[in-house]
Amino acid sequence: MHAGLTPEYLDNLKVYQAGKPIDELVREKGLTRVSKLASNENPLGPSPFAIKEMTKELWETHRYPDMHAYKLKNKLCELYNLKPENIVLGNGSEGIMGYVARAILQPANEVLTSDNTFIGFYILARSAGATIKTVPLTSDYRYDVKALAENITHKTKVIYIANPNNPTGTYINKKEFDYLMSYVPDDVLVILDEAYFEFAKGREDYPDSMDYRYDNVLTLRTFSKAYGLSGIRVGYGFGHQDLISYLNRVKLPFEPNLIGQVGAVGALEDRFHLKSTITNNLRRYDELISYLDEKNFNPIKSVTNFVMFKTGSEEASQHLFNKLLDEGVIIRPLKANEMPEYVRVSIGKKDEMMHFYEAMDKILPAYDKKFGRPSNN
Ligand SMILES: Cc1ncc(COP(=O)(O)O)c(C=O)c1O
Repeated sequence: MHAGLTPEYLDNLKVYQAGKPIDELVREKGLTRVSKLASNENPLGPSPFAIKEMTKELWETHRYPDMHAYKLKNKLCELYNLKPENIVLGNGSEGIMGYVARAILQPANEVLTSDNTFIGFYILARSAGATIKTVPLTSDYRYDVKALAENITHKTKVIYIANPNNPTGTYINKKEFDYLMSYVPDDVLVILDEAYFEFAKGREDYPDSMDYRYDNVLTLRTFSKAYGLSGIRVGYGFGHQDLISYLNRVKLPFEPNLIGQVGAVGALEDRFHLKSTITNNLRRYDELISYLDEKNFNPIKSVTNFVMFKTGSEEASQHLFNKLLDEGVIIRPLKANEMPEYVRVSIGKKDEMMHFYEAMDKILPAYDKKFGRPSNN
């Protein structure tokens, strides 16, 4: 390729690192029992209802999908009391972040966000040449709204907030959201990435962005997490109709695909599956926190389907990750999130969590001799 063919700002852009796929681990280690606790997916799988709808639709895959996704938008309008003009759909919520990068960001712009958050948006913003400006998390691992407010400048075009945040599992509360919004100028777009909304919405002080409906807030949600449809890539965004109109201009016409559209409708209609997902998550969460507490890992309290804890060093995180892989358990070391001394475990089904506990019990005696626990744990 000829040097200079691509813009310079892509030269240092790193490719997103996903959780290790199960097949890869099976291939590499010849294991039969594998538990993937690395990508915050729904361990109960997709809703049976969604599967039925998607299976039926396979016979129609010689046709292009409805580019206006009439049925899916209608369903979302019904649920959230919206008009279709307020909804944008994409290949996962990351697809919609890509539209923001294309429609809004330019090389002169800054995206303001926090350290140690979901890096998918950093990558997309950088692909548009924008600069990422971050502020540190608070000492209790939350977005620091005061620091964000102080760092808004004339260059700030977008403020990105994952609420709850990945990988910390923490959230900004209503008071903090109000505080931040009181400093955000009208011409700055706030992206509220609520990928884990369904897990957090029960908290009284959690600010559900749909209760506010600011003109300069884009709410992003996804079918990848609580709805168990990561593999078919459907995300949705809610916002002011003018904003949505611009996002739709840069969108590929047939996203989300045919199967994705019907699977998403099926998932929204299956309230039982969603409820079972939340119930399993809450039960397994309590057990996971007790286990990690008992082992003195001092886990960070989370309102999501994953838990982060401190190992104290990159070496310890990598050791734990590798030894767990040998036992068939995939977790996530957090170097890519610039937290190399932490790891994250997604909440699985009971048998998957048992697998994790058994593997940890086996690994920890040698691990403890080598690494112990961080002194400030
Ligand atoms: C905070 C956050 N936003 C967005 C995503 C991506 O979601 P989607 O599958 O809808 O692109 C993730 C996935 O891990 C996430 O953690």
